[in-house]
Amino acid sequence: MAIFNKKREAAPQNIPTHIAIIMDGNGRWAKKRGLPRQAGHKVGAEAFRTIANYAKSIGLQYLTVYAFSTENWKRSEEEVNAIMELLENYLREAIRDMDKNRVRFCFFGDLTRLSPALQAEAAEAVERSRQYEGVQVNFCLNYGGRDEILRAARAFAASCAAGEAKPEELTEERFSQLLWSAGVPDPDLVIRPSGEERISNFLLWQSAYAEYYFTDTLWPDFGPRDLDLAIEAYNKRSRRFGGAK
Ligand code: IPE
Ligand code: IPE
Ligand code: MG
Repeated sequence: MAIFNKKREAAPQNIPTHIAIIMDGNGRWAKKRGLPRQAGHKVGAEAFRTIANYAKSIGLQYLTVYAFSTENWKRSEEEVNAIMELLENYLREAIRDMDKNRVRFCFFGDLTRLSPALQAEAAEAVERSRQYEGVQVNFCLNYGGRDEILRAARAFAASCAAGEAKPEELTEERFSQLLWSAGVPDPDLVIRPSGEERISNFLLWQSAYAEYYFTDTLWPDFGPRDLDLAIEAYNKRSRRFGGAK
């Protein structure tokens, strides 16, 4: 209990509205221990659970997590199946514990490529959690930033072709409403653990003015203290959005 209190006291004061995380490093975490990659994904799912609860406790409004990219289908069938199974188990438990955790769920990505069971669970999680206030977790599943932008462009082009819109009517705001993230403010802070310093097709449109934070910690080892450190670093940045200050 003392440790818990100490951690809470150290929590940073200014919490950004929206934090996005690329949950990377599961495979290396497992490899370092001589374990199969799947073992890293399992512990990574636990790390997510902890961070989602912590995010809620510090009053974060939006937490967006990259769980599976449009490029991750390139992995072995065995690994993809293991990840999908973990996601199913996670969602089943999240639905079961919904009233306790009261986290609002949302999904970014084309879920139609996922198993019918997973799609049904995702839909149930969204539907049943709609009522909760507090943190909204946006799960990026079969998500790619370019794919998202292309779909929005196609949707607008289709409106033009149908005579419902004119090309010159397209604004940044209107385009934003055609993305998976419609209605969600842009991320203030994007965190990438695992030592990689790249964006890997994550929130390309939405991150135009996000602050990036990179850390060598592998995702399964990432805990509340690591999130505190990222927020502390964020609070030292001077965001200018192109202005002079
Ligand atoms: C992130 O961890 C999980 C997914 C991409 C699904 P990785 O599996 O990419 O782990 P590393 O990067 O190989 O260590
Ligand atoms: C990004 O990580 C995707 C997720 C964490 C879900 P990757 O491991 O797929 O990215 P790269 O291949 O290192 O760029
Ligand atoms: Mg990786």
